[in-house]
Amino acid sequence: MTKLTIRKPDDWHLHLRDGEMLKSVLPHTSATFARAIIMPNLVPPVVTTADAVAYRERILAALPKEHSFTPLMTLYLTEGTDPDDVEAGFRDGTVTAAKLYPAGATTNSQSGVRSIDKVMPVLERMAEIGMTMCVHGEVTSADVDIFDREAVFLETVLAPLRERLPELRVVLEHVTTSDGVDFVMGAEKNLGATITPHHLMINRNAILAGGIRPHYYCLPVAKRESHRLALRKAATSGDARFFLGTDSAPHVDPSKECGCGCAGIFCAPNTLECLATVFEEDGALDRLEAFVSLNGPAYYRLPVNEERVTLVRQDAPVDFPAKVMAGSEAVTVFDPMRPIHWNVERTACPQGN
Ligand code: DOR
Ligand code: ZN
Repeated sequence: MTKLTIRKPDDWHLHLRDGEMLKSVLPHTSATFARAIIMPNLVPPVVTTADAVAYRERILAALPKEHSFTPLMTLYLTEGTDPDDVEAGFRDGTVTAAKLYPAGATTNSQSGVRSIDKVMPVLERMAEIGMTMCVHGEVTSADVDIFDREAVFLETVLAPLRERLPELRVVLEHVTTSDGVDFVMGAEKNLGATITPHHLMINRNAILAGGIRPHYYCLPVAKRESHRLALRKAATSGDARFFLGTDSAPHVDPSKECGCGCAGIFCAPNTLECLATVFEEDGALDRLEAFVSLNGPAYYRLPVNEERVTLVRQDAPVDFPAKVMAGSEAVTVFDPMRPIHWNVERTACPQGN
C-alpha cells in the first residue's frame, strides 16, 4: 500500500502549555488532528470550569486561521474540586473529562490527589453524569521502583476504585506495560486506554543504553521490550478499548538537558507518520484508522470526524525538523530512531515552525 486515506484523527491526550509555547506547538497538532483532549497541568492548573473556559479561549486565539481544531477541555482534580462545578462544566459542554494526577506523579502534579477518599464525591458525581476520568496510572511512593509504578497502581488504586465505583468511565492514560494492557482487556466496560507513539517505538534502552538521552525520558517511563511488544499488539489489534493519546509534552531543551531534566516527549509534529510506520511494520495499516480516528470518539461518545487525511508512502525518508522554536528557545522533536517513509498531506502551517 502506498496511499492511505482515513478519517481525520484525534489526539486523546495532549499537552499544549500556554503563552509562547502554546503558539509554537499548537499548529503541529491542529495541522493534522481535528480534536484533542487538552491536559490541564498548567502552572497554576486548570481546576475550575471558569479556568477551562479561559484556557480554551487562549488556545483558540493561538490557532492558525487555516486550521479547524476543537480543543476538548479537562479539569485537573484536586482534593478541593467542587462536584457542582464539574457537573455544570460537563453539562454545558465546556469540559469533556477530568484528570486525576496522583500528587507528585509527574510534571506539575503537586496539587493532585493524595487520597482517593477525598475525591470520591466528585468521582461519584462523574459516574452519575457519565463523565470520563482520565488517570495518570502510577503510584508515587519513593519505595516503589519507577519501572513498577504503573503495575502497582493498577493493583492498589485502580482495581479497588473500579470495584467501588464500576459506573465511573475511566481512561488509563499512556499505558506502558503488559500489565496495563491485560488490565484493560480484562475489563468488561467503562475502561479504555490511550497509547503514545513513542511507547510503541522505543523501549528503555533508548533512554539509557550507550549514554543517557533525556529526550526519550517521559512518564510513565518506557519499559522493557516485552512491554513495548504488548502495547504494539494492543494498538494494532483494532480492539476498541485502545486509542491514540500522544502525550506530546513539550519542554524547552534547557529543561531537558540538565542535571534533573523534566519528563516529556514532544511528538506532535510526526505522530501520524510514526504510527503509519508502526502499523505498516505490523501488517496492520488497515487498522490504523480505528486506533487514531474511530475508537477514541466511540469511547468518549462523540461523533467521528467527517474530514479525511491522506498518508502517502515515499521512497526517500521524510525529513522532520529536529527542533521547533518556542520564542528564543528550542524544543526537540521526537526522533523515532529509524527512517520514516510515510508522509501526511497536511494543512500548511503559516507560522513556519
Ligand atoms: O512525560 C510526561 N510529561 N508525562 C506526564 O505525565 C506529564 C508530561 C508533562 O506535562 O510534561
Ligand atoms: Zn501527559
